[in-house]
Amino acid sequence: MRSLFYILLSSIILLNTSCSDKNVVSSEPKKEVDLNALIAQMSIEEKVGQMTQLNLDVISVGEVYNLVEPHSLDQEKLKRALVEKHVGSILNVGGHAYSLEHWQEIMTQIQRVATEDSRFKIPVLYGIDAIHGANYLTEGTLFPQPLAQAATFNPDQVERCAAITAYETRATGVPWNFSPVLDLGRQPLWSRMFETYGEDVLLARTMGIACIKGYQGDDPSNPEKVSACMKHFLGYSYSYTGKDRTPVYIHDRQLREYYLPTFEAAVEQGALSVMINSGELNGIPVHSDPKILTDLLRKELGFDGVAVTDWEDVMKLKDHHRVAATLKDAVQMSVMAGIDMSMTPNDYTFTDLLIELVKEGSVPESRLDESVYRILLMKKRLGLFDHPLAFKHHQFPDVGSIKHDQVNYETACEAITLLKNEKEILPVEAKAGKKILVTGPSSNSMILLNGAWSRTWQGVDPKYNDEGKQTIAEALRETFGNALVHQEICTLDVLDQAALEDIMKRKGEFSHVIICLGELPSSETPGNIEDLTLEEAQLKAVEGLASLGVPMVAVLVENRPRIISRIEPLLDAVLMAYNPGDEGGRAIADIIIGKVNPSGRLPITYPRYVNSLLTYDHKNTERLHFDFSWNAFNPQWEFGTGLSYAPVLYKGMTLSTDTLRKGEKLQINISLENMSPIYNHQEVIMVFVADKVASITPSNKRLRAFKKVSLGKRESAEFTLEISPEDLAFVGIDNTWITEEGEFEVEVGGKTSSFYYLKK
Ligand code: BGC
Repeated sequence: MRSLFYILLSSIILLNTSCSDKNVVSSEPKKEVDLNALIAQMSIEEKVGQMTQLNLDVISVGEVYNLVEPHSLDQEKLKRALVEKHVGSILNVGGHAYSLEHWQEIMTQIQRVATEDSRFKIPVLYGIDAIHGANYLTEGTLFPQPLAQAATFNPDQVERCAAITAYETRATGVPWNFSPVLDLGRQPLWSRMFETYGEDVLLARTMGIACIKGYQGDDPSNPEKVSACMKHFLGYSYSYTGKDRTPVYIHDRQLREYYLPTFEAAVEQGALSVMINSGELNGIPVHSDPKILTDLLRKELGFDGVAVTDWEDVMKLKDHHRVAATLKDAVQMSVMAGIDMSMTPNDYTFTDLLIELVKEGSVPESRLDESVYRILLMKKRLGLFDHPLAFKHHQFPDVGSIKHDQVNYETACEAITLLKNEKEILPVEAKAGKKILVTGPSSNSMILLNGAWSRTWQGVDPKYNDEGKQTIAEALRETFGNALVHQEICTLDVLDQAALEDIMKRKGEFSHVIICLGELPSSETPGNIEDLTLEEAQLKAVEGLASLGVPMVAVLVENRPRIISRIEPLLDAVLMAYNPGDEGGRAIADIIIGKVNPSGRLPITYPRYVNSLLTYDHKNTERLHFDFSWNAFNPQWEFGTGLSYAPVLYKGMTLSTDTLRKGEKLQINISLENMSPIYNHQEVIMVFVADKVASITPSNKRLRAFKKVSLGKRESAEFTLEISPEDLAFVGIDNTWITEEGEFEVEVGGKTSSFYYLKK
């Protein structure tokens, strides 16, 4: 055994030192680390250390949440963590983004201590939330947030953004990204709507897979790739209060039909890690639930990667959830339920208590071995044993490059969604002698464009804005010319009464109003709100400006769909921009002037009323109106809404058969015409299917296939989409997937047709 250990040790050292050449290709032979042999050598303390994840603050100079600036590591604390406590993982950033140089410096220090001073020289697994680009790297590209990316309906674009995020994240030395959020965005109040891929299962699953492909590629040990982390398992997003981390009740059948498929697909795609839902599901905190963490995740889905807790959640089993009488019970419960790593993150309580529990026999050492195996396997899969620091042997010249900005700009252009365009007021044609009035709280703000998780957790400090990026007003000035734009600065709370009066005095001067509305960035608990309605001051500003009597365009820059039904009739055009990222200002201006033809589609249902929050795929029974009609579904804009400057005609739809049988596929042929002589057009073909009769009350309709296609000016073309009987399935009475025989109705672009499904 001893000699095995030394062979192992020397090979780790050998590989660590042999990686110093620049541009070593990723396919270099992998060192064979015998994980079981390594685990057999490890003490209980060393194993528990691997299962501990510390916040960077704990090893930095200063106090937790109050670090000394400029940031630096505290060498004593670092040694205590990695050598004395054997900590295997570190996360996050001390308060705000760092430069590439600083990241590389601290990651070098961390990995040096881990791979030189600790007994087994095991590299640290560093994790970070790079949820819309490398947001904690000052040079990193800040893409549109995931909800906006979903609005592109273009998985290739999502994959491109994710690949760049992986590249820029790995350049810092960090190999693990806590993303994507695979929770469905079906509760519009939720403060993390913008982090989701929207309300639909197929869309979220497709985008989730694309994102994981972009992060991990075929081989996550490639120095340009990172590990994905599917989160938050399971059912986090659908609390009945709409507040973050509050209880969720979801029947097993809905859980399996709506909330599980994104994770299932991500496991199949090879996601290397998962993060657990901080809240409770059906009365049980997920961090203490072996049915979810072991039976479902491990045994049923076959997931063999690392399950990390969310922030402090083991300890929250005691005082917050009150399912554990002591912290020690909390640790025992969560480890026995199936977690592998505790995002502890600010002290060693979890670590010390788990050591005690194993020593007194309340947690078997074999349980640690399973988790440590998975953690070491993840380190191996990421190539950390070969090259703990990718940048030491691989160059990253494209970090924050113009090339990456271009992908960012294109993504924002494809995401921004035109919801209303009365009398084709957009694109705006400037009028000689008149000015365009630009105002509203998101007109002069980069932080609203980027949203939370942008250089800081909540993304609210403009101090960290990126240089050279344009707000909406700046981009409009550049696009239309300074002389044509009058900008009225306005805060989130008020368009000041004096300013409004001044504008009224100059009534005849303006040809258009562009009012940029929105909400401050926020995520998690700081984003909890009591009312989905857009703030009164902004509604009033629109009402005030309406008396100018000129066309008014609203740009919505918001984390979730804030209700605007009171002012919507006053608006001639509405552009939903979501949080479109650093290039959002440019993209919005180019859409407003008509340089870019919008092609985004709503990935959610945009509600009209605060108490009517149905998703598009509700059941008929949910839309029962007081007059006994089915008219109680009347959202402001439906899921999938998105206009273009080009009129596009759905000329016809044919189905390949009127009787689909088991093992066969149904082809849906669509013929389209772009009637515009001016604009090229990107159409999202969406195939909705309704199961006419089913043993469980069926959804009104479900999106079963979609495809984004391009049409040139005046071009006509045919497109084929395909669905199989499995795509029509639902979770039946016994909680398993089933496609029942019978009639189905297909609807694409307003055309409908029916077919039968028969098993034989
Ligand atoms: C969030 C996670 C995030 C983690 C680490 C938590 O509060 O819920 O989504 O990955 O913090 O920053």
